[in-house]
Amino acid sequence: MNDSLKGKTALVTGGTKGIGKAIADKLSNAGATVIISARTKPEESSSGHYFIGADLAKAESADLILSEIKAKYGKLDIIVNNAGSHLSPGGGYSILTDQDWDNEIQLNLMSAVRINKALLPLILENKTGVIINISMNPAIQPIWDMTMAYSAAKAALNAYSKALASELGSKGIRVNTVSPGLVKTPQMELAMEEMSKTLEITVEEATQSIMEKLGGVPLGRPANPEEVGDLVRFLVSEEASYITGAVYQIDGGSLSVV
Ligand SMILES: NC(=O)c1ccc[n+]([C@@H]2O[C@H](COP(=O)([O-])OP(=O)(O)OC[C@H]3O[C@@H](n4cnc5c(N)ncnc54)[C@H](OP(=O)(O)O)[C@@H]3O)[C@@H](O)[C@H]2O)c1
Repeated sequence: MNDSLKGKTALVTGGTKGIGKAIADKLSNAGATVIISARTKPEESSSGHYFIGADLAKAESADLILSEIKAKYGKLDIIVNNAGSHLSPGGGYSILTDQDWDNEIQLNLMSAVRINKALLPLILENKTGVIINISMNPAIQPIWDMTMAYSAAKAALNAYSKALASELGSKGIRVNTVSPGLVKTPQMELAMEEMSKTLEITVEEATQSIMEKLGGVPLGRPANPEEVGDLVRFLVSEEASYITGAVYQIDGGSLSVV
């Protein structure tokens, strides 16, 4: 617990579960007022974060979130675009339909593009602020038979983040991308359970096989969401005041390019 984010107001999309929840909790523990959004209201409201219900795959959601934040807080300092999910089937190019591609792009790219466009005027009023876009390693190292469309959408998010950092640097806004490898979240655990049933192997064997597909994980395990939360807490703080336009891998060493 420290108060490095005292007085700051932060939006964490997809902040009800997994990585987003860990980020929201870390920012709150550092003193920020945290707003979370997702489609489903979390059952336990003990987190104390203000919840806004919205489907970020839909274009109208960004304006809804803006008007609620304006009405309740009147200001915003930090956006963490974390909401995202793997929505398309594996199997390569011939399996993927136009609808699969559109689903991946709407949630994993356009949700962040629209949130930033709608909320940036509010952040720009402060002449300082931070945006973090949550990407993933397969944006750089795609797995053709598992993540083709998902990887392409996140790769576009990486390029968009870099361009946005260049545009906004002179206005006092920093933009960085956080790129996890495998993280132990409900989404990942569900995928491992499904894989273990399909292939008639244990969940541990399924996890091991995914880590091998990623090219191996030198640290030998998936990340905990809290480890990603700690990185984001650092990147949005004044301690990271000269960091912008960067992609931060947090993957236990698995990415095999430099
Ligand atoms: N887990 C991993 O191994 C891993 C690795 C690399 C990158 N990532 C990235 O990290 C981010 C979080 O992943 P996670 O594993 O923590 O996922 P998760 O546990 O499934 O949580 C996803 C969060 O996003 C929300 N969400 C999903 N679809 C949404 C929609 N259409 N509109 C609004 N909110 C939506 C979910 O709430 P609702 O379902 O109620 O809407 C939830 O709060 C994603 O961007 C993912 O691509 C994850």
